[in-house]
Amino acid sequence: MCGIVGILGRGPVADQIVDSLKRLEYRGYDSAGVATLEGDRLERRRAEGKLKNLETRLKSEPLAGHTGIGHTRWATHGKPTESNAHPHATDNVAVVHNGIIENFRELRKMLEKEGAKFASETDTETVAHLVNSYLLKGASPQEAVKASLPQLRGAFALAFLFRGHGDLMIGARRGSPLAIGHGDGEMYLGSDAIALAPFTDTISYLEDGDWVVLTREVGVIYDAHGAVVNREVLKSGASSFLVDKANYRHFMAKEIHEQPEVVGHTLARYVDMATEKVALPAKLPFDFGAIQRISITACGTASYAGYIAKYWFERLSRMPVELDVASEFRYREAPLRKGDLAIFISQSGETADTLAALRYAKSQGLHTLSVVNVPTSTIARESETVLPTLAGPEIGVASTKAFTCQLMVLAALAVAAGKARGELSDADEAKLVRGLIEIPRLMAAALATEPQIEKLARDIAKSKDVLYLGRGTSYPLALEGALKLKEISYIHAEGYAAGELKHGPIALIDENMPVVVIAPFDRVFEKTVSNMQEVAARGGGIILMTDAKGAAEATIESLVTIVLPDMAATFTPMVYAVPVQLLAYHTAVIMGTDVDQPRNLAKSVTVE
Ligand code: AGP
Repeated sequence: MCGIVGILGRGPVADQIVDSLKRLEYRGYDSAGVATLEGDRLERRRAEGKLKNLETRLKSEPLAGHTGIGHTRWATHGKPTESNAHPHATDNVAVVHNGIIENFRELRKMLEKEGAKFASETDTETVAHLVNSYLLKGASPQEAVKASLPQLRGAFALAFLFRGHGDLMIGARRGSPLAIGHGDGEMYLGSDAIALAPFTDTISYLEDGDWVVLTREVGVIYDAHGAVVNREVLKSGASSFLVDKANYRHFMAKEIHEQPEVVGHTLARYVDMATEKVALPAKLPFDFGAIQRISITACGTASYAGYIAKYWFERLSRMPVELDVASEFRYREAPLRKGDLAIFISQSGETADTLAALRYAKSQGLHTLSVVNVPTSTIARESETVLPTLAGPEIGVASTKAFTCQLMVLAALAVAAGKARGELSDADEAKLVRGLIEIPRLMAAALATEPQIEKLARDIAKSKDVLYLGRGTSYPLALEGALKLKEISYIHAEGYAAGELKHGPIALIDENMPVVVIAPFDRVFEKTVSNMQEVAARGGGIILMTDAKGAAEATIESLVTIVLPDMAATFTPMVYAVPVQLLAYHTAVIMGTDVDQPRNLAKSVTVE
């Protein structure tokens, strides 16, 4: 994940910025840079690799200036080279960026037509030239940023400096976090409170759509509609503890809200957004063309990610996929074919059942590939291939951001498999990759349903049992939704394939049994509508998670509808996971349970 720092200081800032960037190293990066303003000079120093390379650079070519921005880059668009390192700049403006600008190519074409000369392959440089284009037309820095932001599509955080404006820094947030640090005659911007801890513990967090104009004395925050807003000023607890809750009540809430950012970083590690092709971070030691069957094994939430991936692999690569929960796989002695592929999914990388299953598959001569959030974990170390999720530390016992990052990795792998087996054309691949590139923005949009879901949770909290229904890839998501609810609110819940309702579970339906239906409008939607009619006819209350088209089609009484953004059908679970997680979270908060550490549960089950 990229890291952003900005300082409007009373003394030289370059070394302070580098020290602050060191506190963001946990986020992972592959290049870094600083830009400062000294009088009318806007200068940069950037370096490939670790921060010590930037420090060496600054020692030989010091940067003066009491106003500066810095960045640790996790390469998204373009290789981790010095020329692609942030800050990106024109003569008049420098910018650092965390996230994805989806429409950077069309913006770049437009700006190049206007004479802009690009020096990098990055999406970020497009932002610098877009803001600059307004400055060249006489706009003030504030006007230039205000005019530019609506033209950007994607999930991002930005910080800007302007030549000739030594007492000005502008920040913007849409989907990736950005915090303001309040100092004594100084002001700061940072990706999180950890970056700002060396300077202040007095923090305000921008909300999605906000942008802020900072001077050393004051910060004026505008919302997406341009209205001046106030954001709460908090005391951060980040000074010592590496990961903090930011302004969230629980780690789980923070991690749900981090998803657009961390799924975006995972996406950027697995696709080349410029060419719209999958670009796996590891060379696979096998040819998908030689694989006859894939087995996917995991536990709990990770197994539901695997279940969703089963649908993707079978649909996109036409390969049969067997899915097992690890505790069964290791004892059923599945007949496996030497040379086939076994995929293991684990947030912790230490789950005993999954590790044992991995060892069994290796003993049978299979290729082993693990999708893990801890690259140094045992499962990672014992796997032939490791595909990391870039969720960052997941503290809440209930897995949220790791789950959606697993889905992102598995989606990219399924597309790669389909391409390798000749089932997908270049055009098919580009279309699917475009669908993946939109996910972070769509997840950020899905988070906007939170106020409605918080109200819904009050009804769910009164229930003894809840049913979750879904078809296709929404069925494993229904299983995950039921697990989320029961593991943190202690309310019994079950997930079912919607078509299975009439084969038994419908006997449970009455006015005390809420039914959560996960159903984006797709080719089987009307079948799910008839399932909902069966529920409504028996007095069951329905919560429908769908899109605008589904909401228009499902004219049923006793229906509360959560409307999610329209999107490509294939990858809906990554976006529909957000309301599912929020419903479980807010219900648990109402129930007063220990949301981050639910009873009887461990974050990593290292025993059988
Ligand atoms: C997730 O919410 C649960 N806490 C649990 O099911 C978890 O997914 C499971 O124990 C697997 O853990 P792992 O991903 O670390 O292997």
